[in-house]
Amino acid sequence: MASWKDNVRSVEPYVPGEQPKVEDVIKLNTNENPYPPAPGVLSAAALFGADNSARLRKYPDPDAGVLTEALSEFYHVLQDQIFVGVGSDDVLSMAFLTFFNSRKPILFPDITYSFYPVWAELYRIPYDTQPLDADFNIVPADYIGRDNGGIIFPNPNAPTGVYLGLDSVEEIVRANRDSVVIVDEAYIDFGGVSALPLIEKYDNLLITQTFSKSRSMAGMRIGFAFGSRDLIRAMKDVKFSFNSYTMNAAALMMGAEAVKDRKYFENCCAKIVKTREDTKKKLSALGFDFPDSKTNFIFARHRSVPASWLFDELKKRRIFVRYFPQKRIDDFLRITIGTDEQMDVLIRNLGELIDAYRV
Ligand SMILES: Cc1ncc(COP(=O)(O)O)c(C=O)c1O
Repeated sequence: MASWKDNVRSVEPYVPGEQPKVEDVIKLNTNENPYPPAPGVLSAAALFGADNSARLRKYPDPDAGVLTEALSEFYHVLQDQIFVGVGSDDVLSMAFLTFFNSRKPILFPDITYSFYPVWAELYRIPYDTQPLDADFNIVPADYIGRDNGGIIFPNPNAPTGVYLGLDSVEEIVRANRDSVVIVDEAYIDFGGVSALPLIEKYDNLLITQTFSKSRSMAGMRIGFAFGSRDLIRAMKDVKFSFNSYTMNAAALMMGAEAVKDRKYFENCCAKIVKTREDTKKKLSALGFDFPDSKTNFIFARHRSVPASWLFDELKKRRIFVRYFPQKRIDDFLRITIGTDEQMDVLIRNLGELIDAYRV
């Protein structure tokens, strides 16, 4: 017998990292920033709370003007080359819907952000994954000379942390002028070089970034994209066919304040990079190896102790890291860079666990 169930759009959803309900944990599992957002963001939040009647009563600016203006000044990009959304997940989802609309498969790495195959399934976009090499590098040749309906990869890649040089990024964009190439730069502020200048040269390049990592605002949900005017206009047309007011008024105000404080942002990123480099040394001394990371996390494997065991034992000690039970990476832990104090606690506990495992 026919049923409404026959017509349901069923999809296996993306599973985000755990958000523990208790406070007294060390949370190194979803690549959040351990430092507070810029002071101006907190002042804007207070102002919003004190004077909220008109702001809550009225719809927010559908063009997100205050935010795109701040981004335009910070990055020296015209406002009509900027798209904003509710986290880069929203921006990426809109980009999939807008640009990946061909019968040919889109291409992305076999080990990458696990939301890509979910959007592809949701929007019924065929896809073909390209294997990273043995050291987890993206192989540019795999994306060249292949008929495709679009290309997407994070740079640096997640969950590996590996950065692809700008020359290779350009090579991929140049070789695919008939498709849109999306470079997901969620982690670019921790040591990579953004492909942003390339949008002037290539009208098929879309770059996405987020406030969730380097700007300490994962809870506010703000993401953005840069691209040619034509790309951005196409995305806006799709967005305005969906929901005109995706960005709420508080996010617009607080996001703009975050962008205005360049010094705070640069200091915060530098602190995380320094802690990351210290943590690399300490993890090596404990017997871990890892691909070199240019992100706010390290993807590490211990030479003799299984990652799944370490993951469970750390959790019992209220230290949360991320483990992916997936082919090729099931002996790795993805560890977010926290404060120096948090990393000290992590390293001490890892040392104890490794000793305990050996006896
Ligand atoms: C590679 C990559 N892209 C995009 C995102 C989404 O970030 P957000 O939606 O918080 O901006 C993440 C989050 O972890 C990520 O790892």
